[in-house]
Amino acid sequence: MLKGVAFDLDGVLTDTARAHYRAWKKLADMLAIPFDEEANEALKGVDRMGSLALILGDRPGHDEAERIRLATLKNDWYLEEIAHFGPEDLFPGAREALEQCRAAGLGIALASASRNAPLLIARMQVAELFDTIIDPASLAAGKPAPDIFLAAAEALGRAPAEMLGVEDAPAGVQAIHAAGMKAVGVGDRAALPDADWIIPAIADFDLAAYSA
Ligand code: G6P
Ligand code: MG
Repeated sequence: MLKGVAFDLDGVLTDTARAHYRAWKKLADMLAIPFDEEANEALKGVDRMGSLALILGDRPGHDEAERIRLATLKNDWYLEEIAHFGPEDLFPGAREALEQCRAAGLGIALASASRNAPLLIARMQVAELFDTIIDPASLAAGKPAPDIFLAAAEALGRAPAEMLGVEDAPAGVQAIHAAGMKAVGVGDRAALPDADWIIPAIADFDLAAYSA
């Protein structure tokens, strides 16, 4: 029986995937590293330092201190991108998806790799709809490891098998499955071939379909 749902944030509840892309693109351009939206797909759901490592690849000369400087630069640009975020930046139907879960008495967790997630959900005025927000800094491994979804189940006091995860990224769907949960993929079937259900957008979230 379904007792809890763990939502990813970026690309599921709001269009920050674009904002992350623009900030990484600026950094890649500065470093003269080729980077486009296709390359960006592999970064979705991947934490900040992991994303930077994917962009730098095996280029030499970027020690730990330099990597932290570059990641901080990217985050400063990202913060500029989201400076004016408000409730209108929620995807259509995002609040309603959370409210469906509330009305059904389910536990609701935010399972985002983003350290900016608490700021964003506060700005979009949906913080009160979550029972728990998992702090990605507290986890040993990021997506595709299951840690964040396991932490969500634990925080809600539900078994993973009683939970659903909602994700837009392949690394996220992998993490949900590794945790032993069913996955709702938001996006294209081609991009998320392993998701148990696919919806084009969060506006199509329909709890009844996943509760059987
Ligand atoms: C999410 C996004 C990623 C981002 C990560 C870390 O998972 O999909 O694109 O790199 O969060 O975000 P942060 O805000 O902590 O840099
Ligand atoms: Mg995402």
